[in-house]
Amino acid sequence: SAELPQEEAEYLIIGGGIAGLFTAWAAAQAGARVTLVTKRSIAESNTDRAQGGIAAALGQHDSPELHLQDTLIAGAGLCDHDAVRTLVTEGPERVKELIDMGASFDRTGNQLCFTREGCHSQDRILHAQGDATGAEILRTLSQKVVAIPNVDVVENMYVIDLLVKNNTCYGALGMDQVTGKLKIFRGRIVVLATGGSGRLYNYTTNPEVATADGIALAYRAGAEVMDMEFIQFHPTSLVLPGAPRFLISEAVRGEGALLRNARGERFMPQYHGMAELAPRDIVSRAILSEMAKTGADSVFLDVTHIAPDKIRERFPTITTTCSKYGLDITKELIPVAPAAHYMMGGVKTDLWGETSISRLFSCGEASCLAVHGANRLASNSLLDGLVFGGRIVQRAAYVLENTQRDKPHFHCESLQPTPNIDYEFLRRKLQHIMGEKVGPLRTALRLAEALAFFERWAFLKNHEAKETFQMEVHNMLEVGELITEAAMMRTESRGGHFRLDYPETSERWRKHVILRH
Ligand code: SIN
Repeated sequence: SAELPQEEAEYLIIGGGIAGLFTAWAAAQAGARVTLVTKRSIAESNTDRAQGGIAAALGQHDSPELHLQDTLIAGAGLCDHDAVRTLVTEGPERVKELIDMGASFDRTGNQLCFTREGCHSQDRILHAQGDATGAEILRTLSQKVVAIPNVDVVENMYVIDLLVKNNTCYGALGMDQVTGKLKIFRGRIVVLATGGSGRLYNYTTNPEVATADGIALAYRAGAEVMDMEFIQFHPTSLVLPGAPRFLISEAVRGEGALLRNARGERFMPQYHGMAELAPRDIVSRAILSEMAKTGADSVFLDVTHIAPDKIRERFPTITTTCSKYGLDITKELIPVAPAAHYMMGGVKTDLWGETSISRLFSCGEASCLAVHGANRLASNSLLDGLVFGGRIVQRAAYVLENTQRDKPHFHCESLQPTPNIDYEFLRRKLQHIMGEKVGPLRTALRLAEALAFFERWAFLKNHEAKETFQMEVHNMLEVGELITEAAMMRTESRGGHFRLDYPETSERWRKHVILRH
């Protein structure tokens, strides 16, 4: 690798969503030099798509204590209480910093507007331009970060592998997506902020980039991963022929939308006291059960009883997107069904973002410190990226002072060249298997069938992929197998993990599954 071009900084941050950008900003504020690499452009991330908003106890009648209680209830017994306390107490300060940086959240007069989402006991969700909260945050953060001379933002850089020796991370090997050239990025602190795994599923609200790369990189390098079985299925993604599974925000239900089955009947009150605003996993399963009962491929969200002007003003993105596909949501019902949305598990970290590999940190959806437990509370994920991204920088200052500037040599192992395989087909097959066998309703039999699929393709691990599309599929195989394995082990139902053959929650399973290579 001596011939490969190299770039060196104190921080190497991989990922350009809220977690990566905020960490880069905080590190630059602390005077560090930062390289931030993203697989595509910084505009492409789940952050950009976040609608509902960002939860923070800033309202008059709210408190971090109430936010903590709601987060723990949604998390179904698996939250780390210290992590949640950190999230809800530091969260409001981080959100105020975002506002100071120029993020403009919706207000009435001078007062911030708060909305409600599932499982929240208070109106505490801030939003921007109605339903374009993530886009506003991304705009604010990326403008700031790009303008900092100490930060080099490198887009279209696919990370092939981490450079790890003696359980210490020194950087990453990247491949320029445009030229195909390899480059070594060295960092004394390496941060994985690569996001989630929605694209492992056939139905997802996530953008194409969400292929769980960071988790695969970390796992291959020997890091511990945790809670992989907990996948959150958002109850309401759009189901229209020719349209993507576009998210219909939970805030729509927060503003009074009702769920109806194909016969036009409202059903949520039969399933839970909070009705349409019950925890997400409960709403998703209720929808699936109504779909099975009526034989339809969706249920319906009904906002026709709400004033059309209010809908258009409060949800401009949703209204416009639906009308692009010929649906006027102020007059017609919106066909919706659950879709993979968020991964609670990920690279295991402590409260300071440190993984089990020295100098390797992780934050945002790629990471797991059990702050979301078995099921994330709506609108807690943008907050998670800010709070735990910021904490990495606090901790890293100490690490930077106390580590040597050693630069071990890395040479690439050669693997066998990729066999002639139809990767497009393999990717679709994997997504289908994950959706059918490792989806919202699991059984030992379904999981065993999925594991057999992963076993069949395990030989690919000894092969070197040439193109990023193929490398992504390798990562998806790695992480899909981890999700399935953990789901097989957990013989109970809890939060985002539901087993038809073990439908009860078991006290014996109030524990985490941690996997390591
Ligand atoms: C939504 O707007 O429903 C998404 C909120 C979230 O996933 O936290």
